[in-house]
Amino acid sequence: MPGRLFSLKCAEEKRIKTDRRSLNTAYKVICMDYFKLVDKAYREHELTKDEIMRLLDPKSDEEEAYLFQKADELRHECVGDWVHLRGLIEFSSYCRRNCKYCGLRRANVSLARYRLSPEDIVAIAHEAALLGYKTIVLQSGEDEFYTADIMAYIIKAIKKIADVAVTLCIGERSYEEYKIMREAGADRYLLKFETANPDHYQKMHPDMSYKNRIDCLLMLKDLGYEVGSGDIVGLPGQTLEHLAEDIMLLKELNVEMAGIGPFIPHPNTPFRRAAGGTLEMTLGMVAITRLMLPYANIPATTAVGTIHPQGRQKALMAGANVVMPNVMPAEYRPRYEIYPSKICIGEQPAHCRMCIEGIIRSLGREVGRDYGSYRGR
Ligand code: 5AD
Ligand code: SF4
Ligand code: FES
Repeated sequence: MPGRLFSLKCAEEKRIKTDRRSLNTAYKVICMDYFKLVDKAYREHELTKDEIMRLLDPKSDEEEAYLFQKADELRHECVGDWVHLRGLIEFSSYCRRNCKYCGLRRANVSLARYRLSPEDIVAIAHEAALLGYKTIVLQSGEDEFYTADIMAYIIKAIKKIADVAVTLCIGERSYEEYKIMREAGADRYLLKFETANPDHYQKMHPDMSYKNRIDCLLMLKDLGYEVGSGDIVGLPGQTLEHLAEDIMLLKELNVEMAGIGPFIPHPNTPFRRAAGGTLEMTLGMVAITRLMLPYANIPATTAVGTIHPQGRQKALMAGANVVMPNVMPAEYRPRYEIYPSKICIGEQPAHCRMCIEGIIRSLGREVGRDYGSYRGR
């Protein structure tokens, strides 16, 4: 069967060629001069996927330190030394979703769920404003109990009694709902894409749609929200290429805020035995994101503070310029268990407020005094 043999030979030659090409790429990536690449990112804020992958894989402490140093420099030049605080209100732990990594997933029946009344939410926001917060983040699981009209009521009530910006983090809704809440005065919206790779997304969220996630982000942009998105570092099945894709998507969406935190396995999820994300990879992601999006607001996440006692400080020194302290009364905190061992779990809002100011000052930085809105335009 000469025809078949011939096509087998062709296929083999093609495979060898492809292998050689990917070897060549791999070789080129390894040989890229790390320091020059950091300088290029610092100057141009543009990188290819291969280049991002190289930056995510420093071969020495010197290379890694240089990445953090240049990200810190660019943070200083573009968004200054202010660290903006966002007071986080976790107002409902009910969620209709089943994200495989999250402790709030609906299949976790061992979690005692709670919902706060609109009046309680407004009262907590008021307390936070009295503590000096200039932004309130209203976060919950995807809980349809809070309709757009109820959220609009809450947003208006908060804005009436406190001089604050309001950020929503309540998941996927329709255009009409996003519109109602925007018109009620919501300024910003956080919706992490969690992973930019559609196949990986499907594995993490079997009953969700990647397309809808991206559509929601585009709707939010269209409605004039300042949009925050981001990923989780170290999710099961994630590759270096996926992480590079995450940064490219943040850049493509031109997000005003980029939230990047490590994966922390939760015992009541399918990923209970998985390894968690590392501090080094999370800091690398924060630093490269700063180089790619010089004006973005980038939080030092609670999750990075949970995997390392100095995690938030290190992130603030590697490109981050925002912290989101919890302003919930201590009794609710253990019941919003996205991941275990969260920091600040037994603290009251006033304690966290003092603590975080101490941390910021210890780094030679200042707590932001205004809304800390995006300044890149
Ligand atoms: N580890 C780290 N981050 C998590 N999130 C959810 N579960 C985990 C986990 N196990 C993050 C998601 C979500 C945000 C509210 O919490 O990125 O968007
Ligand atoms: Fe619900 Fe958000 Fe957790 Fe997913 S990540 S289960 S949407 S709270
Ligand atoms: Fe909560 Fe430090 S920020 S205890």
